[in-house]
This record gives sequence, structure tokens and C-alpha cells, in this order.
Amino acid sequence: MQVKLEGVKKIYGSRTVLDLEELIVEEGCLFGIIGPNGAGKSTLLNIMAGIDAQTEGKVYYGTDRTEITPYRDITLVFQSPYLLRTTVEKNIAYPLKLRGWQENMLRERVEELMEDLDLTRLRKQKAWTLSSGEMQKVALARALSFRPKLLLLDEPTANIDPATTGEIERMLKKINEQEGTTVVIITHNLSQAKRICGNTAMLHKGRLVETGPAALMLKDPENPLTKAFIDGELLS
Ligand SMILES: Nc1ncnc2c1ncn2[C@@H]1O[C@H](COP(=O)(O)OP(=O)(O)OP(=O)(O)O)[C@@H](O)[C@H]1O
Ligand SMILES: [Mg+2]
Repeated sequence: MQVKLEGVKKIYGSRTVLDLEELIVEEGCLFGIIGPNGAGKSTLLNIMAGIDAQTEGKVYYGTDRTEITPYRDITLVFQSPYLLRTTVEKNIAYPLKLRGWQENMLRERVEELMEDLDLTRLRKQKAWTLSSGEMQKVALARALSFRPKLLLLDEPTANIDPATTGEIERMLKKINEQEGTTVVIITHNLSQAKRICGNTAMLHKGRLVETGPAALMLKDPENPLTKAFIDGELLS
């Protein structure tokens, strides 16, 4: 699902924390958002998800450019997942129950996701007893259960080991390539952005500094701020 932001601002009191002339996330892309702490990345993602309202500007979804947030087709995964106090399989099945899926289709979908993310052996385990990597995989499986058209992820692998990060990255690539799901991921892991993202956007102080193909932009950025950020310098 395409998302287009026009003149979007978020202002707290006298502070403008997000100020974007235009940003387009094309349908079917795997889009990375990078930038220092406080740049406005989460604010941007939350506005795209419809859980936060912009102070000014418009957000359009899909090619028919509706301004109504299509909540049923969007899902957001946080750095620290919030899981229901029940088993792994019931967590994953929950959005499907809410949507009234038939029991046999629901079972099939849950099995498939547990298989893909190596969660089958944990199916009966209570969510609060899982490790943080396992929790994040359950959160991702649950987010993907109903085949969202737009998947938004806010630093989903920030506290996750390389092997589990790899599993999550493979899953994101798979649903993006095979199901055409549009994915937007915030990450501080620039190697991750290089590995999985098609396009990236660099934010700084609420503004879009640079956007372009990840492979190019992260190797040879045009903007000095992006270069400094990639080189690990502290940006003022
Ligand atoms: N409810 C709020 N009231 C006031 N200021 C806020 C509020 N929420 C966020 N901000 C400010 O907006 C700015 C952008 O925050 P945001 O969380 O979007 O940054 P971020 O790029 O996601 O940073 P990080 O990499 O640390 O997660 C920050 O300076 C933050 O203090
Ligand atoms: Mg953030």
C-alpha cells in the first residue's frame, strides 16, 4: 500500500519535531528510515500508523489517495513487543479471531507462521516466559497473521541477537517479495538497512535530509549530514 505524506508537521508547544514537505513510500517497497535519536522517526511511523495525529498536513493511503487510515490493513511492531497473557499460538491467532476467520483457515495460517519463524516448538509456552528474541518473533508473526498491506516496524531488532535478527530479516524479505507487503522499518543498524531495504530516508531534526536506494545512499551519500551519520559522528 502506497503512503504519501504532504506537508506533514508535528508540533509540541513551540517545538516542531517533524516537518516534511513530501515523503512517498511506494507500494511494495521495503523502506528504511534512519537518523539519530530524537530525529522524529517514531513520530513519523506513528503518524503513518494513525496512532498519532499530525499537527498539519495530509497523509494519503493507496492509489485512490484516501485520507482515512485503513487500520484493518496496517500493523505496527514496536521495539518492545506487547503480547497477550496467553500462549504463543493464541497470541498469533488473536488478530484472526478478531477478524472472524474460520477455524480451519485460522489454524493453517498460525501453523504456517510458526513454521516460518521457528516457533512451533514454543506453541504452548506462555508469552511472558519467552526470551526477548522469541517475543519479537511472536509479535512479528501476530502482526503478519492477517496479511497486512502495510507493515510498520520501529527498531524491531534493537535488542535481538544476530541469528534471530537474521530470521526476522528473512521473514520481512519474504513477505515483501512474495506477498508484496509494503514494509517500513526504522533501524539504527545500517548493515541491516543495506541488507534488506530497497529505499531509505535519512531524518534529522524532523526533516528529510536525503532519500534514495539503500545500497547507494548508505555507501555513497550525497548529503554531508548523512555521510557524517554513517561515519558515526555526533550530529549537532
Ligand atoms: N509527547 C511528546 N511531547 C513532547 N515532545 C515529544 C513527544 N513525543 C516526542 N517528542 C519529541 O519529539 C522528538 C522526536 O521524537 P521521536 O521519538 O520521533 O524520535 P526518534 O527519531 O524515534 O528517536 P529514537 O532514535 O531515540 O527512537 C524528540 O525530541 C522527542 O523528545
Ligand atoms: Mg524512536
